[in-house]
Amino acid sequence: MKKDFLSILDLDSDELEGIIADAMRLKRLKSEGVAHEYLRGKSLGMIFEKPSTRTRVSFEVGMSDLGGHALFLNPQDIQLGRGEEIRDTARVLSRYLDAVMVRAYSHATIEEFARYSTIPIINGLSDRLHPCQVLADIMTLRERFGDLRDLKLAWIGDGNNVCNSWILSTPLTGMEVVVASPPRYRPAAGVVERARAAGGRVTIVTDPAEAVREADVLYTDIWVSMGNEDERAERLQAFQGYTIDSRLLELAVPGAPVMHCLPAHRGEEIADEVLEGPRSIVWDQAENRLHAQKALLVRLIRGEMPSEE
Ligand code: CP
Ligand code: NVA
Repeated sequence: MKKDFLSILDLDSDELEGIIADAMRLKRLKSEGVAHEYLRGKSLGMIFEKPSTRTRVSFEVGMSDLGGHALFLNPQDIQLGRGEEIRDTARVLSRYLDAVMVRAYSHATIEEFARYSTIPIINGLSDRLHPCQVLADIMTLRERFGDLRDLKLAWIGDGNNVCNSWILSTPLTGMEVVVASPPRYRPAAGVVERARAAGGRVTIVTDPAEAVREADVLYTDIWVSMGNEDERAERLQAFQGYTIDSRLLELAVPGAPVMHCLPAHRGEEIADEVLEGPRSIVWDQAENRLHAQKALLVRLIRGEMPSEE
């Protein structure tokens, strides 16, 4: 039975723990120059309806590190762009490949891919969720804090796809997520309800200072996500006061790290001095996309990771 990764809640807490442990091991093997070709002969398709730097490069390099192969598929260059249906594309690709990663405007596109594929489908970002990002973020916090239970993460800004995945991760990690957003840009109510129903601790407020007080971790993302470009002017207006700057940082637990999934817009959601400052762990997050996704790929394509080194 194939397993997809469309949402962080497609994993239970044991599976999440296992993937993070595997990711840390893969990171070590890579840094020591030890071969770990656990996916030799395997192929990953990567369909990108939207641009990407981190997701594209980390999946492609990840497959190469694992001895496999990744194919970049621009929808405009394959028959999808000329109207071939998703369900037909999904069934055909299932006959060639071992997994497909899809980045799509609509989450429903990825769900449809998953429904008709007989191979694992990975959500590489949709309008609703970005579980691969949060997987790498959780790894980054595990490296820093060890035990994550009872840590408080303050999300400042848009209640977007990355925010939604953070909210959904709370039942798995035991962390608390406090979101400060302008009322119009709060995370999806259904996502918050789902997380709470599974035991997650999520609070929604309007005032960034309230969210940041006693926070162990701060997180932000761009105010104008891909697909929201038409709303740029009104969003820039609505998010005034939601910048993570040195003043806001002062209110958090001393030394609390600052996270951002990138790409960043300095001077909008994050001040240059914060992004470049000693509290920023954004480059570690970006690096860990590689290690976390390699561990995910091995799990989805092979099952368990081989224990021999
Ligand atoms: N954080 C992230 O997913 O970046 P890309 O859009 O560059 O893939
Ligand atoms: N929220 C952003 C994340 C980019 C990685 C977007 O969807 O554009």
